[in-house]
Amino acid sequence: MKTLSQELFDTLLSWYRENKRDLPWRRVVSPYRTWISEIMLQQTRVSAAIPYFERWTKRFPSALSLSSASEEDVLKAWEGLGYYSRARNLHAAAKIIASEFGGELPCDKEALLRLPGIGEYTVGAILSIAFGKREPAVDGNVLRVISRLTEDPTDILNVSFRKKIADDIRPFMKEGETSDFTQALFELGALVCLPEEACRCASCPVRAFCGANEHGTQSLFPVKTAKKEKKKAEMTVFLLLLNGSVALTRRPDSGLLAKMYQFPNVSGFLSASEVSARFGGEARELPAHTHVFTHVIWEMKAFAVSLSSPPNDPTLFFASPAELEEKYALPSAFSFYKKFCK
Ligand code: ADE
Repeated sequence: MKTLSQELFDTLLSWYRENKRDLPWRRVVSPYRTWISEIMLQQTRVSAAIPYFERWTKRFPSALSLSSASEEDVLKAWEGLGYYSRARNLHAAAKIIASEFGGELPCDKEALLRLPGIGEYTVGAILSIAFGKREPAVDGNVLRVISRLTEDPTDILNVSFRKKIADDIRPFMKEGETSDFTQALFELGALVCLPEEACRCASCPVRAFCGANEHGTQSLFPVKTAKKEKKKAEMTVFLLLLNGSVALTRRPDSGLLAKMYQFPNVSGFLSASEVSARFGGEARELPAHTHVFTHVIWEMKAFAVSLSSPPNDPTLFFASPAELEEKYALPSAFSFYKKFCK
């Protein structure tokens, strides 16, 4: 295994300062903005997160303003980003920050860790980027970069791997440079040290320090055991149209997309005649759609049915096109069908 050195990190930081991308959360830095951007970036690409971050910080410029928003408004601002528990946790954490910390994020590791949705990685990012503390933030990019540099054979699924990497790199974080240190590692992972065969070693500023580059073993790191195949779930979705509005329901209080709005649906595939018989109107088949979640793939068949009277189902309510745009947040899996609500 190759060892890490101060020269390596000094070289990386110089490269970062000359090559860093101009990103909205880098222009003005605050603990609140770092927190929001890091939560958005956990499951979302930088290019997709940028417009959400800009809108969010205009709409909720501080933890206090977020704490007093309605859940509906918070979910609406998150609509399309997926993994909605992230938005609910931001909202819940903002309320705690308002009631217990006077509206400012605490700069204490233990206090931050107690907030909903904030784990070791996010704490490291907030403390190092916004508070100047020597606390590493180890995400998948950083694991990949460091495990290649050192040819670390630890399996990425090993629960203590992140902590080990954090302990390995902490000694090289210099006072006053913690923000650039954390972001230089993100930047190398995002622009140069890309996954598997996509890495751009010829233009890597730290290739001279890299074990994987020396031995041509880039694609072997980080070490990963084979993943389980995702389950597939078949589903039939109904766009029930009545006087220009469309029927919605709410999802159950727990499980995937808990409490989100959705178009009514059943599991399994129904035929057009089964759907017509169920709702008493002609069923028009819409394009099929597939949505991939972390652990499951939804294979969706859908039908539009024009109703002549409201169905006798108290769990359904009707939303106008304007309400669908402005009021109700629909998860991406369903919003594919919004365009057929006419
Ligand atoms: N990925 C995670 N955090 C990031 C950041 N602050 N800048 C760019 N990419 C990131």
